[in-house]
Amino acid sequence: MLQRPRRNRKSEVIRQMVQETHVSAANLIFPLFIIEGENQKTEVSSMPGIFRYSVDNLLREVESCMNLGLKSFDLFPNIDESLKDKMATESYREESLYLRAIREVKKEFPEACLITDVAMDPYSSDGHDGVVDNGEILNDETLEVLGKMALAHARAGADIIAPSDMMDGRVGYIRKTLDEHGYSGVSIMSYSAKYASAFYGPFRDALNSAPKFGDKKTYQMNPANQREALIEANLDEIEGADFLMVKPALPYLDVIKLLKDNTELPIAAYNVSGEYAMIKAAVQNGWLNEQRAITEVLTSIRRAGATAILTYHAKEVLLNKWL
Ligand code: PBG
Repeated sequence: MLQRPRRNRKSEVIRQMVQETHVSAANLIFPLFIIEGENQKTEVSSMPGIFRYSVDNLLREVESCMNLGLKSFDLFPNIDESLKDKMATESYREESLYLRAIREVKKEFPEACLITDVAMDPYSSDGHDGVVDNGEILNDETLEVLGKMALAHARAGADIIAPSDMMDGRVGYIRKTLDEHGYSGVSIMSYSAKYASAFYGPFRDALNSAPKFGDKKTYQMNPANQREALIEANLDEIEGADFLMVKPALPYLDVIKLLKDNTELPIAAYNVSGEYAMIKAAVQNGWLNEQRAITEVLTSIRRAGATAILTYHAKEVLLNKWL
């Protein structure tokens, strides 16, 4: 035999020398949940190790992440039911929990990269990502709300706006709104290929944001489709997106690879709540080795072509020095 591929695997030093894919702190984005109150820290029962923080504790959590070299965060609010309405007006109220949190984080950590979530569901009394009329999700009426929300986030100090709603035309609408108000420097990370997935369950527990009726299949994509992701990605690129996102990550590695091969923009992948919950449940049962399972998942998402990974594992992999 002339070719013996095992020779390049014979020692740890050689294995590392020929390793093709790496994950580093710079690639990771840590999603954080916020709640109202003071000195609050409540665990999400379906996401062991993940907490909802009041703004004061959020600042301490961001600080401890920054000290580990984890510097990018995506914030999600748990909004009191009494503040929700059909038009999600709480989403752009100056003194809302979310806008206060953005301002505080940017004030204390100007060098952090703050990504903000633009979508109506945490603030909507219908629990949907769009304006609901007679059981229908209205597209163009929703864009107006998303524009107000994005502008409020930019004013509060967001570095990157991430629309996760899947309405048609929202990237262009948000880009235009930001530019017209002097925020041409604020980036857009678009949830381009966001699927109607079963894996968002624990996230909806964390925020109490599940739809009050029906499902999200008229706006989020059918898990069976791949080519449709290219339509969405092309539109987002034309409309001015700076990043394209695929979500969830692990069940959609082929979609990450497809976008990677068809665009020059950086690809982000969202390793979602249900993916996190699956690993934690198996680890708690003693069925998987935690370190190996988590690093394999993150490496695979990078290998498929993701530049950045939004993951609930971000802090623990750095704290435990697993990368
Ligand atoms: C909603 C939104 C969802 C997630 C991020 N933004 C859930 C949904 O679409 O219902 C899911 C994230 C996760 O599961 O970790 N705009």
